[in-house]
Amino acid sequence: MSKNIDLSSTVAGIELKNPVLAASGTFGYGLLYEKFFDVSVLGGFVTKGLSLKPKAGNPAPRICETPSGMLNAIGLQNIGFDKFAGQKLPKLSKIGTSVIVNFFGDTIDEYVAMAERLDDTAGVHGLEMNISCPNVEKGGAAFGKDLKTTEKVVSACRGVTSKPLIVKLTPDVADIAEFARVCEANGADGISVINTVPGMAIDIRSRKPVLANITGGLSGPAIKPIAVRMVWRCYEAVDIPIFGIGGIACAEDIVEFMLAGASAVQIGTMNFVDPSICARLIDDLKILLKELGANEAYEAGGATEAGGANGAKMTNAGATGAADGYKGLIGAAHRT
Ligand SMILES: Cc1cc2nc3c(=O)[nH]c(=O)nc-3n(C[C@H](O)[C@H](O)[C@H](O)COP(=O)(O)O)c2cc1C
Repeated sequence: MSKNIDLSSTVAGIELKNPVLAASGTFGYGLLYEKFFDVSVLGGFVTKGLSLKPKAGNPAPRICETPSGMLNAIGLQNIGFDKFAGQKLPKLSKIGTSVIVNFFGDTIDEYVAMAERLDDTAGVHGLEMNISCPNVEKGGAAFGKDLKTTEKVVSACRGVTSKPLIVKLTPDVADIAEFARVCEANGADGISVINTVPGMAIDIRSRKPVLANITGGLSGPAIKPIAVRMVWRCYEAVDIPIFGIGGIACAEDIVEFMLAGASAVQIGTMNFVDPSICARLIDDLKILLKELGANEAYEAGGATEAGGANGAKMTNAGATGAADGYKGLIGAAHRT
């Protein structure tokens, strides 16, 4: 019965079957996971970071396990726009869920060129601009840690695409809320919070850093409290919707992110632990929402304004659709 609950909504202009998406870099181009579960059940998925030209990434070793998480320094390895558009996208657009393309460049011009191309490409439902990768010298977090560059790159990309534009933020700044505000002021439709947290591991026997890149990005359950706080801060600062990311491993985590202010969430590292986790989380979420009484409006067939029942910040909920019940959870912890 609870499996039939409708969790659909429109977040940042992107239609989502439910608020559970797969995060960039942990879900390849989506196709690999088809052998584990029916990927069409996802609210959507975000593809591996894409650049104009193919990129080999950093030398190995580039991942290592850490307590409750992992470090990675992949360095945005990808197949480049042409191969993606010609070989991957035709298959992705047939899956039947929203496809969000994560993209980056070494320069503002490259970001703009990517945004232009993605704007012209059928089958891309939204753009997620990565200005937050800690593992590359140019672009990435080098852009997302500077307010002026963030302003320039967001407004330049906004100028060339009318598709939903989401900006993915780094936690490696003094006050993430300032960056959220700059994104909103320059036309972003939403923000993704957060990318990985810079970290490092040293092998005590070789006395050398474990990763060839020396440092990497920490992800997984270890970073969840950091991410929840950053979603909390951003929700206070802006009215555009927030995609909450960081260490999500169970339905309870999803609700926690919603209470902090996320309109939808992305699942990253836990896909490596259990490749079918996203499907399970969607089912578990429906059961949990019922248990929490958060689906009552839907089940009663009563339509309320998004988040209205709990006096939610309407615009920040950023979502319209049938599942009004869970939308009342979005940002609710700010009101208690
Ligand atoms: C191996 C790996 C590759 C990643 N690649 C990208 C990427 O290409 N673009 C991006 O914006 N984020 C990338 N991320 C960051 C994730 O999308 C996510 O923001 C982060 O891992 C935190 O979520 P999690 O704790 O659920 O993994 C990557 C993460 C991992 C672990």
